[in-house]
Amino acid sequence: MESLRKLISAVGSGLREAPGRLYRSVFRSSYPLTLRQQLSVVVNNLILHVHPSRVFRRSIKPSTTFGLGLMCLYLFIIEWVTGVYLMFYYEPSTGAAYGRILDLNYAVAFGRLMRNLHRWAAEAMVVAVVIHMCRVFYTGAYKPPREFNWVLGVVLLILTLALSFTGYLLPWDQLSFWAITVGTNIVNYMPVLGPKLRFLLLGGDAVGSEALLRFYTLHVIAIPAVAALIINYHIWRVIKDGGLAHPLEQNPEAQRMDPVVPTFPTVVYTELFVLVVLMAGLTAASLIFNAPLEEEANPLLPSNPSKAPWYFLGLQELVSYSAFWGGVMAPALLTLFLLVLPYMDRSSEGIGIWFSRARTGMNILWTFILVAIVVFTAIGVYLRGPNWNFYWPWEGWPGPN
Ligand code: HEM
Repeated sequence: MESLRKLISAVGSGLREAPGRLYRSVFRSSYPLTLRQQLSVVVNNLILHVHPSRVFRRSIKPSTTFGLGLMCLYLFIIEWVTGVYLMFYYEPSTGAAYGRILDLNYAVAFGRLMRNLHRWAAEAMVVAVVIHMCRVFYTGAYKPPREFNWVLGVVLLILTLALSFTGYLLPWDQLSFWAITVGTNIVNYMPVLGPKLRFLLLGGDAVGSEALLRFYTLHVIAIPAVAALIINYHIWRVIKDGGLAHPLEQNPEAQRMDPVVPTFPTVVYTELFVLVVLMAGLTAASLIFNAPLEEEANPLLPSNPSKAPWYFLGLQELVSYSAFWGGVMAPALLTLFLLVLPYMDRSSEGIGIWFSRARTGMNILWTFILVAIVVFTAIGVYLRGPNWNFYWPWEGWPGPN
């Protein structure tokens, strides 16, 4: 009897201590309770050490960043994880791709959920990256010393669009086939290089098996690998450039008086909270809405209208006015503007302040560009129907793809 009691008490205390032991085996110290431990946990943790050990309290106020950069990072990781799941089943050949997507939708365990998550996270990433860029712009955070990090951001924007675009073809249905046909036709309008670039991208003159293989390789390895490297560099630069843009950074004495908080636990738990909310929203969306899938691709039966993916519909709309000015010059000038912006607009006024009055002119210019992009995109999505004619939504045209 005595030995049984001893055994039970030994098992009980073993169980009580197990979580602590497990925690120590992973993190190499006990759960940090003192400030000293909390500061050192950030320095000694592989993932957390990208943070400084303390941050300004204003950095974690929701209105400073709205967690947008973090959401871009999370969405990229979600794409990676769900993408690997899809890769177990997908086959990049014109004969098999569509069937594999049907399998994912109807036969594979969690296949539909994973596909939906992958699709909605991709769309959310395009939106989040653009809004993150707007937040950086409207707080003047692209100015020195962060000008190169802004340029890295522009590259990330292009890579995000490229990731989404290359993934669009993979289901090999009518929607994806004709969207990519139209999207890659826009490349043709580039003088001299256009047709050669398009040939290189498609591995031929038309979207076919070579194009599917190229898009697949770009989508699952080439672009994600480059994007992952640049995302790491981008986040590292945020810290090296002095942390998030701060209104007092021109005056280090005054800035030093601004209250700080330890990164652990305040920032870490805030970041985890953002992850939980984002995952909950995406999972709910993926349970309710299915990723689109039409009939299998048929190169002999063009869909009418053939629309590019929605984020390129503003461009397609411009192309319908003038192939050269809309399809080549407008995107080229916009990209050039984004790349040179932080090297031209260098004054330190208004850094870290939303819609600073000192930057009224630039804020108006940016808003004008933004509204133009949204208006042209909305026309392309909602108001264009067969033969790219103009239709009001209530005129019977079935609506956006
Ligand atoms: C995959 C895309 C991207 C990821 C994962 C990402 C990630 C991040 C993160 C985590 C931060 C710090 C927190 C925050 O500001 O919310 C940040 C800041 C920054 N990002 Fe991005 N970003 C991306 C795209 C972009 C784009 C498109 C731009 C602009 C063209 C940009 C420019 C910047 C700049 C200048 C900062 C510093 C802001 C400041 O100091 O206040 N990023 N980014």
